[in-house]
Amino acid sequence: MNILSIETSCDETALSIISTNTKEKNFSVRANALISQIDIHKEYGGVFPALAKREHAKNVTPLLIHVLKEATLYHEGTTDLSLPELEATLEREPELFNALVAVLSNTRKPDIDALMVTYGPGLTPALWVGINFARALSIVWDIPIIPVNHMEGHITSILFSKDYMNEQKALIDMNQVDLPVIALLISGGHTQLVLVKQWGHYEIIGETIDDAVGEAFDKVGRMLGMEYPGGPKVSQTAQQGVDDQRVSLPRPMISSGDYRFSFSGLKTAVRYLVEDQEKKNALDEHMIANIAREFEHAVTDVLVKKTTSALLEYGAQGLIIAGGVSANTHIINSFKECIEKEFSELTLYTPEQGLSGDNSLMIASAGFIQLLTHDNPYITADELVAVGNLKLS
Ligand code: KG4
Ligand code: ZN
Repeated sequence: MNILSIETSCDETALSIISTNTKEKNFSVRANALISQIDIHKEYGGVFPALAKREHAKNVTPLLIHVLKEATLYHEGTTDLSLPELEATLEREPELFNALVAVLSNTRKPDIDALMVTYGPGLTPALWVGINFARALSIVWDIPIIPVNHMEGHITSILFSKDYMNEQKALIDMNQVDLPVIALLISGGHTQLVLVKQWGHYEIIGETIDDAVGEAFDKVGRMLGMEYPGGPKVSQTAQQGVDDQRVSLPRPMISSGDYRFSFSGLKTAVRYLVEDQEKKNALDEHMIANIAREFEHAVTDVLVKKTTSALLEYGAQGLIIAGGVSANTHIINSFKECIEKEFSELTLYTPEQGLSGDNSLMIASAGFIQLLTHDNPYITADELVAVGNLKLS
């Protein structure tokens, strides 16, 4: 089967095409493309939902042509469109409707058998673009849809092998991942510890009660004068920092004895520290680096402490760290050190390059798990809706 996967939950418009081999429990990647909106949102210091929606609507159709060509599935020709039905489906997306009609009416139905699309969690207006796009294609091409949870996407993003773009088998052998594993999901919107006893079934054992880790990184970045998204810049700057007695931040809820996280207070503590140093005229480059370093250490200490407790309590065989913040080298190195010392039998799984931030291959891997584990993972266009606060289950 050839499957098109679609991700538009936040500020990346991403499409991929995979060819499945369910007998081998694997697939190959035929095309993978992404348009990031980061430069557009920079001005606003964060993702601006109405703008994200507009950009997705503008980009998703050209991206479709791009991936169809990359997968050699694009053929000029004609497709009979039922315009009233398509127009009704895309009632709220006039721009997308016009773009799709222009393209689809001049394209032969490609050899695509199904669609996979993120239906939550995420920014609802952004999610709807991908969903309406999938609904339209489902109707025009008469193919079913597998709805995908974005967070399952982050978890399964670790299943890709190193050379995933070139391999016939893009995924590692799933049977070699001993379960249960604990997944620490750290992104701009989420901070969760998830127990994976079985692929396709997830239990959230703890999450943040306020800000997500990535969100805290981004807000701290802004306080330190960095552009959105601040996460990678805070982390880079932290490498120049040193221990500094003037800079000390709390480790929120580190001893709470549960798996809840809180990063809002830590962010406020950084604000006070910054204001204080500004007043003293001491907020120079070194001070900024020292604050960034202490912030990164505070976050890491809490993540490591809570995650190791979960590993012990649930007898985990492996640890998955995924989501945009899993690109943070200090966090990953700290986990590596801790595992080496205390959990020598445990396997650490992190996404390969290009798969830690939002992308559509992770949606393909999560949709593929559904194909393998559910009798009928498909739904029809009219059953598909966005669920902004969708939970893993
Ligand atoms: O998973 P993701 O791409 O989008 C969401 O689903 O939220 O995560 C994006 C988040 C942003 O907050 C970004 O600043 C953060 O991941 N991030 C990092 C690093 N790289 C990305 N945070 C800290 N250190 C990094 N190296
Ligand atoms: Zn994400």
